[in-house]
Amino acid sequence: MKGQITKLPSFDGVDQATRLTPVTHRMREVTYQLAENGIWDSQLIKEVRELFDSLAEEWTATRDHPQRNLPLLDALERGNVNGEVALELGAGTCISARVLIPKFQNFFAIDLSFEMLKNVVETAPPLVCADGSSLPLSDGAVDVLILQNMFLFPNEVSRCISEKGCLVWVNSRGSGTPIHLPVEKVIQSLEAATGYAWNAVCSTMGEATWAVIRKAL
Ligand SMILES: C[S@@+](CC[C@H](N)C(=O)[O-])C[C@H]1O[C@@H](n2cnc3c(N)ncnc32)[C@H](O)[C@@H]1O
Repeated sequence: MKGQITKLPSFDGVDQATRLTPVTHRMREVTYQLAENGIWDSQLIKEVRELFDSLAEEWTATRDHPQRNLPLLDALERGNVNGEVALELGAGTCISARVLIPKFQNFFAIDLSFEMLKNVVETAPPLVCADGSSLPLSDGAVDVLILQNMFLFPNEVSRCISEKGCLVWVNSRGSGTPIHLPVEKVIQSLEAATGYAWNAVCSTMGEATWAVIRKAL
């Protein structure tokens, strides 16, 4: 059981967002503990929620810029992403909503941080405050699950994605993103959790990395 990774040609680009967060950030440690060992508990929920609550007011001003959504758009286009129902989990202030709303019949966003959701951009979709480790969704409810600079909960990802659906994994600053996993690690984590293979197409735009990942049927 091992999925295939197809690498598409790269594009130039640059993420002009804040450089305040180093790769040694505590969130990188949490990202790996979760993906490799499934470590996520009430203490971590409190820590992560408090961190992002504290960043919420400045989030849009320090992260949103004209090129911010280009890697995500490239993933949707060259990754052949289609579907009616799309969710951005860990959407923060919904910086990507303006490009996602026109693409899907039903698009909604979930975040753990109520402060992030209080500070959403004007074009925000329907919002839910919930924890990605236990989503208030029925099995196969989502065709497209977007995780942009967000933790991977492999069991919930696989449970909530519809049979022909996909996971869109984006790191705006590539391996410099605090919450980052290389595509190989995302697949490894999904395969360990589900017991079956996942395939990916992936690429880069400037320093940003993206992957569109599907169950190998
Ligand atoms: C690094 S920010 C990324 C925000 C947005 N995707 C972006 O790229 O601008 C991570 C977001 O994930 C949210 N988050 C972290 N853990 C979560 C969880 N278990 N369930 C839902 N959201 C979570 C945080 O509150 C935060 O808003």
